[in-house]
Amino acid sequence: MDGVIVLISGRGSNLKAIYNTNLKNIIKCVISNRDDAPGLQFAKDNNLNTEVIVSSKFNSREEFEKQLALIIDKYNPKLIVLAGFMRILSATFIHKYAGKIINIHPSLLPAFPGAHAAQLAINAKVKVSGATVHFVTEEVDAGSIIAQGIVQVNSTDSVNELADRILEVEHIIYPFVIKKILLNKISINKEQAVIEKEPEDEKNLGKHFYSIFY
Ligand code: GRF
Repeated sequence: MDGVIVLISGRGSNLKAIYNTNLKNIIKCVISNRDDAPGLQFAKDNNLNTEVIVSSKFNSREEFEKQLALIIDKYNPKLIVLAGFMRILSATFIHKYAGKIINIHPSLLPAFPGAHAAQLAINAKVKVSGATVHFVTEEVDAGSIIAQGIVQVNSTDSVNELADRILEVEHIIYPFVIKKILLNKISINKEQAVIEKEPEDEKNLGKHFYSIFY
């Protein structure tokens, strides 16, 4: 299986989930744009390759991304996984890695893009929300949807309660999608991502099997 680069800026719980879901060997490098990201410490503690490119030290996005691309190209990954990476990437960068960058967002896109997705879901009084894994394109939180996992939204939920419930789903569907891509089990048909179903998927996804395949 080819490897991935994981880009983080903070906590790194999705990085941990990827690491803990039998995928630690496929992480070629963890790149953080902050030197104080807790996820970076996790990566170091677990002997993953790490690189830090402090974005705030660069004069322009272009210079930051040039450095980022240099490091990425050194590892020649099959996939670039954004896991709580809090920088918007330029069109030039995204085109350079077209079809190779994925992101996870804590809502059922196209509902509630941008920051504060859980807050927006509560404000809208929706009954269900969830997480979306999608390819990254120029438009923020757009791009072909690969998989979505659903959670219930309770009328009494605080933002943190809902965000935590969504995070649990993220930790199941993100490693799942990454593995499928690395195994070439995801194809794009008229901009729609199609996942090839395998016998072990139901066991691995639990109740989220149904939101992904039915
Ligand atoms: C997650 O909620 C993810 O959906 C969003 O950023 C958050 C990252 O969390 N893109 P973590 O750093 O992986 O814990």
